[in-house]
Amino acid sequence: MTGRRKLIAGNWKMNGLKGQLGEVSAIAALAGPRSEIDVALFLPATLIAAAAPLASTVLIGAQDCHQAEAGAFTGNLSAAMLAEAGAGCTLVGHSERRQYQHESNADVAAKAAQAHKHGLSVVLCVGETLDTREQGDEIAHGFVSDQLVASLPEGADAGWLTIAYEPVWAIGTGKVASPAQVAAMHAALRATLVKALGAATGNAMRILYGGSVSGDNAADLLHTDNVDGALVGGASLTAEKFAPIIAAA
Ligand code: PGA
Repeated sequence: MTGRRKLIAGNWKMNGLKGQLGEVSAIAALAGPRSEIDVALFLPATLIAAAAPLASTVLIGAQDCHQAEAGAFTGNLSAAMLAEAGAGCTLVGHSERRQYQHESNADVAAKAAQAHKHGLSVVLCVGETLDTREQGDEIAHGFVSDQLVASLPEGADAGWLTIAYEPVWAIGTGKVASPAQVAAMHAALRATLVKALGAATGNAMRILYGGSVSGDNAADLLHTDNVDGALVGGASLTAEKFAPIIAAA
């Protein structure tokens, strides 16, 4: 027993209108009886205020927050705004934001710290591209470990921070990392956390796997050493597809 509670988190990305709130309620109903695991949904910010009252058994979260308190950042949302809307958590550093919004490791660390300041728990994403993976496992482990250390916020603590390992080549591609690849990477990241944060915090911090998780592969992935849950994109959009992943945990 590791003492780490499993977290099954859905990331809806830029999907979901009010018409899909029924799925949030249905997912909350699935999560309700499972007090031994945590379930979270990272929704489009426009749905947070409507979803939060529907989902007392699910932590409702945002997909990003800005690192500044407030100010002239057109189109961005602050941690305070998200918390006021009803978010209890946020993603930071998702590879799609690192890629399309050019977010650096320093940005990601600052976003995580800012979210924590406003009481949000944080899932911080890291992962290597196919290019890096093709240079070999050792190179990939080194790359992701360095990315993690550089993205860790000041005062990182397992009480509010969770790590998600998401190989970029496995996101939305249907190509899932093998349990052996996942076990090796998660072991490397566990060692990195212990070295960076000390044994107590490093061993207590959850490390999720993400990238084409589905009902077909969830059980194998979730029973891999050091896999403390899953971050799920496509398969979290409906209760029907999400249910077997929650059940596998
Ligand atoms: P996917 O996305 O499950 O659709 O591959 C995972 C993610 O990007 O968090």
